Amino acid sequence: MKKFKKVLLYLVIAIVLVVVSAISYITLCLPNVGPPEDIHVTPTAQLVARGEYLANHVTLCVDCHSQRDFSRYAGPLLDGKLGQGGEVFDEKVSFPGSVHVPNITPYKLKDWTDGEIFRAITTGVRKDGVAIFPLMPWPSYSKLAREDVYALIAYHA
Ligand code: HEC
Repeated sequence: MKKFKKVLLYLVIAIVLVVVSAISYITLCLPNVGPPEDIHVTPTAQLVARGEYLANHVTLCVDCHSQRDFSRYAGPLLDGKLGQGGEVFDEKVSFPGSVHVPNITPYKLKDWTDGEIFRAITTGVRKDGVAIFPLMPWPSYSKLAREDVYALIAYHA
């Protein structure tokens, strides 16, 4: 009887631990940003021009999401590869681990709604709800003015 009680106690402790770990994982590790907003960005010429300026010179989406020629000074962008992704951050660039930069051209993002792209830029959550590794500086992008995020979406549209 004593042994039975001991086993029962261990079992209860194990179940409590599993439940606490599961709740902690869900609340602490998975992003909790809610569904994407229902927005539709109209890509006016002015908005696209603003987005082109931001993506190439301020938020630098294009720098990361394009292939570059690192055999040349400052690693200039390769023509015709803008936004296609393909770079890998790994130990060759002193990065612990390995992160692949995805393609974000309109071809690749054709199934994403404007709201899903907005959510990805401002909260770092992909279309499928998985978190984007914060090598992409979305914590900073979350402070952008809404109109500027619309401009980025319009440029990528
Ligand atoms: C410092 C590099 C860097 C910059 C700058 C950057 N990104 Fe990213 N981005 C990444 C990486 C790396 C990933 C993938 C991370 C992962 O696998 O979790 C990513 C993922 C994404 C995704 C998800 C794509 C998919 O198929 O899952 C989108 C959309 C995106 N970025 C858009 C942008 C936009 C728009 C900007 C500019 C406002 C930007 N990124 C700036 C590195 C960057």
